[in-house]
Order: sequence, then structure tokens, then C-alpha cells
Amino acid sequence: MTSKALMNTYGDRAATLIKGEGAWLWNDKGDKYLDALSGIAVCGLGHSHPAITKAITEQLSTLTHCSNFFTIPNQEVLAEKLCHISGMDKVFFGNSGAEANEAAIKMARLFGHQQGISLPTVLVMENAFHGRTLATLSASGGRRVQAGFEPLVTGFARAPFDDIPALQKIADNNQNICAIFVEPIQGEGGIRIASTDYLQQLRIFCDQNNWLLMLDEVQTGNGRTGKYFCFQHSGIVPDVVTTSKGLGNGFPIGACLAAGKAAELMQPGNHGSTFGGNPLACAAALATINTIEDQGLLSRAAAIGDRLMAGLKEGLSSSSHVLHIRGRGCMIGIELNKPCKSLFMAAMEKGLIINVTADSVIRLLPPFVMTDDEVDQVVAILVPLIKDFKKD
Ligand SMILES: Cc1ncc(COP(=O)(O)O)c(C=O)c1O
Repeated sequence: MTSKALMNTYGDRAATLIKGEGAWLWNDKGDKYLDALSGIAVCGLGHSHPAITKAITEQLSTLTHCSNFFTIPNQEVLAEKLCHISGMDKVFFGNSGAEANEAAIKMARLFGHQQGISLPTVLVMENAFHGRTLATLSASGGRRVQAGFEPLVTGFARAPFDDIPALQKIADNNQNICAIFVEPIQGEGGIRIASTDYLQQLRIFCDQNNWLLMLDEVQTGNGRTGKYFCFQHSGIVPDVVTTSKGLGNGFPIGACLAAGKAAELMQPGNHGSTFGGNPLACAAALATINTIEDQGLLSRAAAIGDRLMAGLKEGLSSSSHVLHIRGRGCMIGIELNKPCKSLFMAAMEKGLIINVTADSVIRLLPPFVMTDDEVDQVVAILVPLIKDFKKD
């Protein structure tokens, strides 16, 4: 039952979940679910991870919040850690993916004005998803998130995803562009993975045109694809990268990281966030990163992904309604030739939590702590459901 006191932004909820441990969740009736969604790419270390619980409770009993008028020691350690991992120079902390992206968009505009561009324009992609605030929904590619919220924020131009020749044409005809903003894998858009050299080409293209290369790693960051950031698969370094979801393993925190010329754009008074980077959020994020490193969870995420993909490909090889199985690490999409939203509830009934995005793509975002046996259970439940799926 959903309370009438809640705005109906999420429709009917599928279950009432009250407990989680590792890759498992329990509802209020005591039923158990294997979680192949991780709270939408958030709980990479699974639920109730002892290292995160310890870090949060210790910080909670010391200092929760003091505002950014003051030095926050673990905010500084976290910033340095993220810079070290990513090769970036500076970090701004917010509380969500959309906020991290707002910071990036504002930085692009500062950069554009610095270049003498009076109407700075950010090139964004078809099918993109960057969030639900006005600027980030305007940057997003689907009309679904924009409808009803016009007038949209201006200053965005749109290009087809994974298409360098199209970028060239747009660049030739628009002198206001100052940045490209792109997800290395479009998550909400249906696990659409940019081709191997796309990011490398984008890097060259941005350098040639003096544009910022800005990556939205809100979903792909924090180990999800088997590297800490997805761009690290391609050997480039962006000018700006945003992340959130998995950063605090469930504790809200977002980050906008910048390098080189982009790192100096924000100056006192340009931007801020009351809660951003508070001691509690930074304690959660630091413990998450340390655990990923100490327990070798980047390679584990890659191994889980390989095992899942192999099981799904083998099990679904004869299913003609399965168009494509694709993924990187713990971010996998199974595209069907028809809408399949009802598979979400069908899987719940079998004790498995998955997601369907872009109408016809089953999305798996399992935690990196899944055992091989649990991975095999995901395959064993999902394959027959997909094989026998007729229509929504
Ligand atoms: C790539 C990407 N960017 C931004 C967001 C928005 O993040 P949040 O919901 O934390 O604002 C999401 C959320 O799904 C996302 O996947």
C-alpha cells in the first residue's frame, strides 16, 4: 500500500522491502529476493555492508554536519582519493546525480563565456538521461522526461550517440558549442555502449575544437563496469566527469570532478550545496572506495559480468525474440523485440529483482559481492522467464 500522503511520482510500488544483506532483500512478509538491481546501480557492495555501516555509525556519533563554511577533513581525503583514482584535479560535492550534472553544465557555461561565446551550448546525445532537474531533463534525450515541463532550459544541441561524422557536421554549423556531455554507456537509454574508439575520438575532437569533454558517469562510475570509471577502459581522461549512485553505497552523495582548464572554472560564490560533501556522506563514500580497493571488487565486478553474460547468452541462444545481450561488468542489457515491462513483476514473483528500461531492455545491475552461485541463480530464474515471454 502506498500512502496517499506521497506524491504519485513512482506509481504503484512493487513490494515493501524492510531488510537487506549482501545480495538479498526481504519484504515485510519475510519473503526473500535476490537483488540484481542494487537500488538502480547504487549498492555495489550489497546491502548492510559492515564496513559502510561501521563508517557511518562512527561518523554519526562524532559529527554529522557542519556546513562548507568549515574544513571537513574526510571531504578533503575523499576529494584527493577521487582525483588520484580518476586523474582529475578538483572535485565539487553535491548529493545526487542530477546535482553533479548541474555543476558540470554550469561549468560548461562558465567555460563558454571565458571563450567569448555569449550563448554557450552543450552538445548532448539522443537517448541520453542526465536527471530530472530542469537543466538535466533539458539535456536528456527522451521527450518522456521533458513533456509537461516546458519551457526547457536552452543552450543544448543534440547529436546521435556514438556517431563521430554527425558531430563534425554539427560542429561546422554551430559556433556556440563549448562542450560535449555524454554517458559512456547509456544506462536508462537501454545499456547502449559506445563503440571502443568513440571516447578516444571524442577526446581528439574536443581538443581540436577547444570544447570540454564532459562524461556523465553517475551510473557507470564507482566500479560498475569493472574499472572505477568507465572512461578508464578507453585510456582517455575527460575534462569533467560526474558521478553519484554507487559513490556512497546508498548514502546520498554526488561529485563533479574536473581537470586542467576546467578545474579552475568554479570560484567562490559560483556554486554551492548546503549538504554537499558533509562529514557523514564523505565517511560513507570513503568506506565504499576503500572496500572496493581492499576487496578487489573491480575485478570481481568484471568477473560477475562475464559469468552472467555467458549464462544468459547460452540460455537464450535459441530465443529469436532476444535481439541483443550486451554489457560491461555489472551493467548488462538484454534487448527484446517487444516491450517487456511485465517481466519486472514476473521476476519478483520468482524471487528476483531486475529492471526493464527503454521499454524493451531488461537491465541487470547486480552488486559486486554476488557469489558465483548467486550469479547462477539469477541466470536460472531469468532465462526461462525471458524464453517463455510472449508479450506485455
Ligand atoms: C547517467 C545518469 N545521470 C544522471 C542520473 C540522475 O541521478 P539522480 O537520480 O541521482 O539525480 C541518472 C539516474 O538514473 C543516470 O543514470
